[in-house]
Amino acid sequence: MSGGRKPAGRAIYTLRLEEWETRMGRFRQERALSGLVSDEALVLRRREFLRGAALATAAASIGGCFAGDEVEAASQPATAALPNVRPAPPAFRTDEALSDADDVTGYNNFYEFGTGKRDPAARAHTLRTRPWSVAIEGEVAKPGLVPIEDLLKPHPLEERIYRLRCVEAWSMVIPWVGFPLGALLERFEPTSRARFVAFETLHDPEQMPGQRRRVLPWPYREALRMDEAMHPLTILAVGLYGRVLPNQNGAPLRLVVPWKYGFKSIKSIVKIRLQQRRPRTTWSDEAPREYGFYANVNPQVHHPRWSQARERRIGEWSKRPTLFLNGYAEQVASLYKGLNLRRNF
Ligand code: MTE
Repeated sequence: MSGGRKPAGRAIYTLRLEEWETRMGRFRQERALSGLVSDEALVLRRREFLRGAALATAAASIGGCFAGDEVEAASQPATAALPNVRPAPPAFRTDEALSDADDVTGYNNFYEFGTGKRDPAARAHTLRTRPWSVAIEGEVAKPGLVPIEDLLKPHPLEERIYRLRCVEAWSMVIPWVGFPLGALLERFEPTSRARFVAFETLHDPEQMPGQRRRVLPWPYREALRMDEAMHPLTILAVGLYGRVLPNQNGAPLRLVVPWKYGFKSIKSIVKIRLQQRRPRTTWSDEAPREYGFYANVNPQVHHPRWSQARERRIGEWSKRPTLFLNGYAEQVASLYKGLNLRRNF
């Protein structure tokens, strides 16, 4: 994401046969526990297993803007299984192979814990996700500071299997667990003046050591137009792979907007503010020529420093074409009718 703070580099995967065997066993166990994720995850893992066995050491270069992280395949301790999660309805699931759970929880962007892809998994244990409250403010009839338990209680959880496309030209397929943001907003009764929804991440340098450095102006801020926020594809996630969201993925509550670049999907939310005027947002403030307010995935509108036409699915070697609105055009293109998407990137 950054403005060239780091040298371009190579991600090195060093995978030993025994590690793959252990991980396959663990994955089967997890899958049996959650009962949610599709068979494709297993297929993907098997593919990875064979690749790992054949190539004891392999090097893959990740294209684009970023980072020479030394990527050592590392397992994460599993979080608790989430009970009563409905399977993803067909309109809200892709049939593509799921990304490896270790990649989803081990290769992250969460600058509050450092700018390296492995930093969040290594450091986010310092985040305390209970007690946790979220302030709902601004243009709502019923504002309040709501404990997370009360915030979540009325919402049945469901799985949503979405593509995540990072602005850095990599992507994953993630089985989120969550509920529609729109259902939550309605409870607080938005007024007729509510045109935008602004979100803020926790600001606490003690829990989030990355905030001790001025890498970004803290807290991290994001926002959506009201119609984007109310769209049924937009969710608040509390889990992935049938389990409680790991801290590095934005526990206890993060936004997921699958047709937009990943930086819109703000993590560890403490404030939701409805307002009339368009809110300021972290990345579009930081580098307005590089990151727009809309941040809709668009293979024809390139980042000034790299192409957005293709992407690397983490876990695959070759790049694939990027889809307009990340493949969700049928559902959301109508939101942008008449809007010049080159100018409003
Ligand atoms: N939210 C906060 N608070 N801080 C961040 O640095 N990074 C964003 C987004 N949300 C970020 C954030 C970016 S650039 C991406 S691509 C996604 O989180 C990554 O989500 P993941 O790590 O769960 O894959």
